[in-house]
Amino acid sequence: MSIDTDRRPAPDEKARVMGQQPLVVWFTGLSGSGKTTLASGLEKILFERGVKTFLLDGDRLRAGLNRDLGFSPEDREENIRRAAEIAAMMCDAGVVVLASFISPYQKDRDRARQIIGSDRFMEVYLDCTVDVCRHRDVKGLYKKADSGEIEQFTGLSAPYEAPINADLTLETASQSIDHCLSVLLNKVLPRIAHAS
Ligand code: ADX
Repeated sequence: MSIDTDRRPAPDEKARVMGQQPLVVWFTGLSGSGKTTLASGLEKILFERGVKTFLLDGDRLRAGLNRDLGFSPEDREENIRRAAEIAAMMCDAGVVVLASFISPYQKDRDRARQIIGSDRFMEVYLDCTVDVCRHRDVKGLYKKADSGEIEQFTGLSAPYEAPINADLTLETASQSIDHCLSVLLNKVLPRIAHAS
């Protein structure tokens, strides 16, 4: 047997073997807007359908690979750049990536789209007011930010730039989790279907 070691599998050949088109579903929104909830829920549904997925989560990255980074605009930029590079590599491996990052700056999300490639990138904006997120305060962070314990907190003492070109916007304050998941699934499935 002779193997051409110079020739790597083309994306289409890889998609055929994986039985799916790779995609990055990029969730952006305030802390408490539902990013982790919807990304995990979508992963569960896709997993049950046999889709190969990976959940790339801001908190996890910040606990390990990106633990040298804080929350200044520069550090957030670097956080998102690294996340996008990882997501792009996972896409090259044929995986459907569910990326969950506040990613508050439009230019950083635009760069993520550029790094990953727009044909493999779906930006999902979880639109939820600061008041609702503060009320939920799942991690108790709004309370800490209000008392000054946490600085540069997104939505309070640091900006959040709502996307201007999101592929999908979900109003998580008024719509149920099940409804959001069903809308998401309908949007994602055609993009990951591999024409066999
Ligand atoms: S991003 O802005 O760089 O995209 P990322 O999504 O990785 O942020 O991390 C956000 C998480 O870090 C939040 O869910 C929260 O748990 C934690 N966090 C700690 N400090 C802050 C802060 N100042 N602003 C926002 N999130 C913070």
